Amino acid sequence: MNKDRKLIIAGNWKMNKTVAEALDLVRGLKIELANVKEVDIVVCPPYTALADVSKAILDSNIRLGAQNMSENNVGAYTGEIAAVMLKEFSVRYVILGHSERRQYQKESDALIAKKAAAVHAASLKPIVCVGETLAEREGGQMEKVLETQVHGSLAGLSKDQMAETIVAYEPVWAIGTGKTATTAQAQEAHAFIRRQIAKNFDDTVARRVRIQYGGSVKPSNARELMSQPDVDGALVGGASLEARSFSDIIKSSI
Ligand code: PGA
Repeated sequence: MNKDRKLIIAGNWKMNKTVAEALDLVRGLKIELANVKEVDIVVCPPYTALADVSKAILDSNIRLGAQNMSENNVGAYTGEIAAVMLKEFSVRYVILGHSERRQYQKESDALIAKKAAAVHAASLKPIVCVGETLAEREGGQMEKVLETQVHGSLAGLSKDQMAETIVAYEPVWAIGTGKTATTAQAQEAHAFIRRQIAKNFDDTVARRVRIQYGGSVKPSNARELMSQPDVDGALVGGASLEARSFSDIIKSSI
């Protein structure tokens, strides 16, 4: 597949995997994916497995991501993790504003924007998630919701920072449900998001930003989704928990 933007496929392990299980998974991924150069490959284990996974992937083409980060640098914030702590384990990417955090931790666009600024200040790359619920889609609100989230969650970034930000379009109704957006639905939403980035920043920036699709991505639908002109990778939940399925997603996308 030939695109100007390099595909980036990330596994979001969510609250799964003990250290032993995490190491088992990355051992499998290293074998399966050893020869892949065409795709940026990222795994996002829970915080407790970052140290060990970091060592295990040192000599590989797999990069490390975290699932969240504090907007603050240091201090009295019980339970939070700062950028400098993630950098100790060579974390390169941080998922921000996942719909589960928007829903359960009530994360707002304004908070996500602060976190995105902190991620960039630490020279890490944010993966900023946006996406509408089923009710919003059925109510004809999809564009409005995406416009608000893209505008709010990325507010205050410089053009250079925006170009280095990854956006993940994850329709909430497709996450963990087995329902995938059709390729046409994904392409339409991605093109809309790119237009919003062009409006808020400029065309050059919008052309550089990589937009991942997320929501029940699996080996059987990855290639078709990734063949869309504005789909530049995937954020994979359930299917990233096994070496075979995550590797098959990556290999089928090349
Ligand atoms: P899923 O999750 O692949 O299990 O649908 C995707 C995500 O939440 O990032």
